Formats: sequence, C-alpha cells, structure tokens
Amino acid sequence: MQDSSAENGTRGAGHGRADQRAQIAQALDISSVYLGRRPSGLRYDPCIPPILQTHRLRLRTYSIADEAGLFEVFADPYARRFYPEMADRAKVRAWIEWNLGNYNEFGFGLWAMEVKVEGRFVGDCGLTYQDVEGRRELEIGYHVLERERGRGYATEAARACLEFGFTHTSSENICSIVAPLNQASCAVAARVHMAQREFMKGGQRLLLFYTTRHEWEAVRS
Ligand SMILES: CC(C)(COP(=O)(O)OP(=O)(O)OC[C@H]1O[C@@H](n2cnc3c(N)ncnc32)[C@H](O)[C@@H]1OP(=O)(O)O)[C@@H](O)C(=O)NCCC(=O)NCCS
Repeated sequence: MQDSSAENGTRGAGHGRADQRAQIAQALDISSVYLGRRPSGLRYDPCIPPILQTHRLRLRTYSIADEAGLFEVFADPYARRFYPEMADRAKVRAWIEWNLGNYNEFGFGLWAMEVKVEGRFVGDCGLTYQDVEGRRELEIGYHVLERERGRGYATEAARACLEFGFTHTSSENICSIVAPLNQASCAVAARVHMAQREFMKGGQRLLLFYTTRHEWEAVRS
C-alpha cells in the first residue's frame, strides 16, 4: 500500500507508518491496525504473529490451549447446523493446528478473538485461502460464542480483516463464503463486502460475498 503522507508531502517521512495506521483506522472506524515490517518483496512478514485491534476487540494467534474455548463456539445448535463436524474434539484441535500452519506459511489465518477490556475469548475471525471455482481466494471467516452474538463483534473484526488482507497481501479480491440459510453470517458479510453472487461448491449452492481491491481503494480514497 502506498504511504499517502509521503505522496502529499504534508508530513515527515519518519511518521509515515504511524500516519498510515491512523488513516486506515480512521477509514475503518477501528482503533489500530497491525502493520509489521516486511522483508522487501513480501506483502507480509511470516515471522511476526499479526495482531489486529479494533475499538473493542483484539485478534491474537491461536494456541492449543484454546481448544476448549473453540469447542464451545461451535457447541450451540445454530453453529452446529453449519459446522456439524466441530462436535468432534479432534476436529477442533485440527482447526487450531490448521491455523498455526497458516500463520507459518502465510503470516495470517483465523485468529482468536478477545474483548480487549476483560481479555475474554469470544470466538475467532481471520483470513484463510479457499477454493472458489478452481481459484485460490482469500476468505474472511468469523465464528462467535452464542452468548456473545448480536453485539457486532463479527462485523467489527471482519472489517479489520478486510483491511489487513488488502494491506498485507496482493490479493485482488477478498470474499466470505456463506450458506444461504446462514442468515446471521449473510447479515455480517453483506455489511463487510461490496457485492455478492451465487456459486457452486461441492455440489452445494453457496453465496459469495466479495470486495475487489479496486472497490476497496475507491472507498478509502
Ligand atoms: C455469524 C456469526 C459469526 C455472527 O456473529 P455476531 O457477532 O453475532 O455478528 P454481528 O453482531 O456483527 O451481526 C449479526 C447479524 O446477524 C443478525 N442475525 C443474528 N441471528 C440471526 C438469525 N437467526 N437470522 C437472521 N439474522 C440474524 C443480527 O441481527 C445481526 O444483524 P443486524 O445487526 O443487521 O441486526 C455468529 O452468528 C456465529 O458464530 N454463527 C455460527 C458460526 C458461523 O456460522 N459463522 C459464519 C460462517 S460463514
């Protein structure tokens, strides 16, 4: 991403990163955005666990110690309807291990979501690569404990992840893949993304909510 403070010449070069963070935070209405140093040529730094903060939330890397909390996220009837496999503790552990691998390989994944003030775990949100019609697309996913739903946490975290994705990768699109019957997720995705369409995956009709880099840059400028 270009440092616009350097472009318009209104501020000293030493303040570029702080200004960039402030501008992104202002545009998104979030308090701060992780912008790690990157080796030249890479759009992210796989050595530094990314942490995003919004007004109310902190996204941190998962650890195996989160297994019990994550199991609870998928334990209610609504979540289990869309993630029946997460009734299996081994699948929950595999979810965490998949994300630990994603952090190593890509520098991001689904992150554990905590309320900043109390530090309590409320779910997860983050970015993973998913197959969409044979293409590898960056997807924002979000999952919130039943008792914490309806407070805007998924929307707040997903917006920060959209910013992270376009800032730290060269992806031209970022999406969220949602089952049409998952009305809560559709409500979140419709707020976060700019467009939607249907597509087929594994013989299932799904909704693809998406934002193109072009649209995202136009809205931010
Ligand atoms: C989807 C999910 C993450 C939303 O989390 P959340 O923190 O409650 O999300 P938000 O508070 O930001 O927004 C929720 C929206 O869904 C709406 N909603 C909640 N339950 C709903 C339902 N059963 N039917 C229709 N809308 C519903 C809320 O009204 C709200 O929209 P609004 O603010 O326009 O009224 C949460 O429901 C969840 O964890 N579900 C199980 C896991 C899942 O399905 N994840 C998504 C996979 S694609």
